[in-house]
Amino acid sequence: MSFQDLLKSDALQVQRWLAGILAARGDLPVVEAMRYALRGGKGLRGFLVLESARLHGVANAASLPVAAAVEALHAYSLVHDDLPAMDDDDLRRGQPTLHVKWDEATAILAGDALQTLAFELLTDPVIGSAERRIALVAALAKASGVEGMVRGQALDIAAETADRALTLTEITTLQAGKTGALIRFSASAGALIAGADPAPLQAYAAALGLAFQIHDDVLDVTGDANTTGKRTGKDEGRGKATFVSLLGLEPARARAEALISEAEAALAPYGERAANLVAAARFSISRLA
Ligand code: IPE
Ligand code: IPE
Ligand code: MG
Ligand code: MG
Ligand code: MG
Repeated sequence: MSFQDLLKSDALQVQRWLAGILAARGDLPVVEAMRYALRGGKGLRGFLVLESARLHGVANAASLPVAAAVEALHAYSLVHDDLPAMDDDDLRRGQPTLHVKWDEATAILAGDALQTLAFELLTDPVIGSAERRIALVAALAKASGVEGMVRGQALDIAAETADRALTLTEITTLQAGKTGALIRFSASAGALIAGADPAPLQAYAAALGLAFQIHDDVLDVTGDANTTGKRTGKDEGRGKATFVSLLGLEPARARAEALISEAEAALAPYGERAANLVAAARFSISRLA
C-alpha cells in the first residue's frame, strides 16, 4: 500500500471510531459542532499514533483510542485557533469555520468538549494497564498545555504585536510548542503504549514537527484556498512570526528539508521497519494541503 493510501485508510478508521463515540452523545448543537470539527483533515497525528504502535507490535485495536484522542485534541486546537480572538479565520478544511457556521459560544464549548473527550478516550482499558494509560494522560496533558501547544499559541499571538522581530531561536521555541508538542506526543505514543523507550521516536518527531509547521507557513505563501482548504496569505497580514517571515521562502524550505533528513536519521534504530514513518516525514514537506 502506498503511504497516501495508508494515511487515508488510517484517517478513515480514526474518523469512523470517533463518529461511533459521538453517535451516543445526543443531538445538542454543540455535539453536532464537535462532529463537524472532527471531519476532514489529513489525520497525520492519528496516523503517527497507529504507525508508532504498529512499529512496536501493538495492534490498531489498542492504539485507536489514542489516535482518536490526539485527533480530538488537534481538532479542538484548530477550532480555537480560528476564533476571532485568535487567527480570525472563516475557512477550515474547505468548510466554514465552526464559529462562522454556528457561533463563538458554540465554537468555544465544542473545543472545550473535544479537549476533555481526548482525555476520556485515553482511559479506555483496551489501551493497556492503568499505569500506561496514566503515562499517556500525563504526556498528552503536557504536550497540549502550558508547556506545549498552549504555550506555543500564546507566544504566536504575543509575537503579532511584539515591537521587534523574533529571533530564529525564539521562532523555533514557538513552533516546537504550538505544532511540535502534539506531533511529538503522537509519534512517541506507540512506544508509551508498548512500554518501550520513546527516545528515538521523540527525536524523529521533534524534527518532523518543526518541518511540518515550516511547510504550513510555506503553504500560507505559495498555496491557495481551493487546494489547502483554508485562507492563505494571512500570516504576513497578521504579523505572524514564522521561518518564512524571518528567513524568506527558499531558506525556510531548505531548513524544512534539512529537518526531514534529521528526522529520517533518528529512525535508524528501526531500520526498514520505519519505512512508513520515513514516508510520513517526506509527505510533511511535499503536501499541498
Ligand atoms: C494544521 O494542521 C495546523 C497546524 C498545526 C499547522 P494540519 O495541517 O495537520 O491540519 P488537518 O488536520 O490536516 O486539517
Ligand atoms: C496552528 O498554527 C497551530 C494550532 C492550531 C495549535 P496555524 O495558525 O499556522 O495553523 P493554520 O494555518 O491556521 O492551520
Ligand atoms: Mg494560529
Ligand atoms: Mg491559524
Ligand atoms: Mg498556518
